[in-house]
Amino acid sequence: MEIRVSRQPAEEYDGDALVVGIGERAAPEGPLAALDERLGGLISGLIEAGEVRGKPDELTLVHTQGRLPARRLAIVGLGPPADLDLYALRRASGAAARRLRDRGCRRLGTTLHLALEGRSRLSGAARAVVEAAYVGLYRGGERQSERDLPEELEELALLATPPEQLEPASAAAHLARLGGEATNYCRRLVNLPANEVTPSRLAQEALDLAGLVGLEVEVLEPARLQELGMGAFLAVARGSQEPARLIVLRHRGRGDGRWLALVGKGLTFDSGGISIKPSENMHLMKGDMAGGAAVLAAMRAVAALGLKLDVLGIIPAAENLPGGGACRPGDVVVAYSGRTIEIINTDAEGRLLLADCLAYARDLGATHLVDIATLTGACVIALGHVAAGVMGTDHDLVEALLEAGEQAGERMWRLPLFPEYRSQLDSLIADLKNVGGRPAGAITGGWFLREFVGETSWAHLDIAGTAWSEKDQPHQVEGATGAGVRTLIGLAERLAGGVT
Ligand code: BES
Ligand code: MN
Ligand code: ZN
Repeated sequence: MEIRVSRQPAEEYDGDALVVGIGERAAPEGPLAALDERLGGLISGLIEAGEVRGKPDELTLVHTQGRLPARRLAIVGLGPPADLDLYALRRASGAAARRLRDRGCRRLGTTLHLALEGRSRLSGAARAVVEAAYVGLYRGGERQSERDLPEELEELALLATPPEQLEPASAAAHLARLGGEATNYCRRLVNLPANEVTPSRLAQEALDLAGLVGLEVEVLEPARLQELGMGAFLAVARGSQEPARLIVLRHRGRGDGRWLALVGKGLTFDSGGISIKPSENMHLMKGDMAGGAAVLAAMRAVAALGLKLDVLGIIPAAENLPGGGACRPGDVVVAYSGRTIEIINTDAEGRLLLADCLAYARDLGATHLVDIATLTGACVIALGHVAAGVMGTDHDLVEALLEAGEQAGERMWRLPLFPEYRSQLDSLIADLKNVGGRPAGAITGGWFLREFVGETSWAHLDIAGTAWSEKDQPHQVEGATGAGVRTLIGLAERLAGGVT
């Protein structure tokens, strides 16, 4: 898909469809007013008839029958004007791109990037509109054999861009393409089944990606993990025939001694182990490597952007199965940091491998640690499928993450790591246990990780509720969402010093 940022007025665009937004109970204004005139009042007529109401997710398709160079006009509802923000804009843009593609349109022109005029920088809106189009266009169905699919879009043109905004909007569109493609790359990996995406295949994917975009890469096998003393990580992998892999990626962009480490949970399947999960919905646990896939995808964009920042990507990949060698509830393991952990529940496995990898990242020189994981069902209870949970020890890093999330169109909410929660992890026999009971489960998961980050600046993103969409939505198909990818890219941009 070609992305064009253009001064061309909407009424001159000659593609398959022209996308324009309209707010709820709003009269046609801006680009829509000029188009209404050209169409002899057709749009105001539709509004008067109650046909076009401007509600979110509403899309009205009008054939222009030669009265405009564009074949169709697509009027998308933006909801109440007072609530219009980048989230609403993304929803509208994604839904429009998907629906129009599915109706056979190949060339789209849009003015949606102008809809927030005065309330957001145009370049930020342009980035949101383009990223959302990529997200909306992803189809899923990777392993369906006979598919009669509508063609891909050929072009998305951001029309009527003011001349002084052409340059920033084009730069934003370039970032958006990388962010959108990275998001869909992550979604594909998460949607693919666990019999294909095993730990070693995920490692092979990292090797291929590194070669493609120019990242340094290392893959550590179990013997090496044993030598390093990663007893917590290895305990998780012991019940599976699939050997664990530790993927380490490096992007060298600055060399000033600062390293941002992105650590992503890579459970290619989580059955729960001996503390086995109920079978209902267990198939969704092929997506328990969504954090790892998000890190892989973010590293891809960081390299493609040539960000001026040193970034480490660390992905512990393993499969949690209840085989004969599996660890048992009550086992005590020695973590990489030397601390002892009593494994009360083998289903709290993500924190075990992250504990070792956070500590390892520090030894590799990380000065800023960010982990991302489908860590707790409790986070889903707290924030639903709407927002990811954020915790951390460094206020500035947490703020940067929240800001990056906001700009990326990913809702996030901070949860507290008050000291009172820590005692829930006290063990009778070891330094700590791996579960803290039902109360505040997302927080005790965060607290567990905190025990392994020492004094290093750290933030944690729990994406258990946001990595997978259980329903088909106008702007996004059911399945993997690519949660965290664009936020991590935005965070790296911020730390590198340039935010668009
Ligand atoms: N991968 C799960 C968390 C999860 C749940 C992700 C739902 C996505 C959707 C994680 O490994 C897990 O099983 N966590 C346990 C922890 C508990 C035993 C303390 C959970 O949340 O039940
Ligand atoms: Mn689990
Ligand atoms: Zn898990």
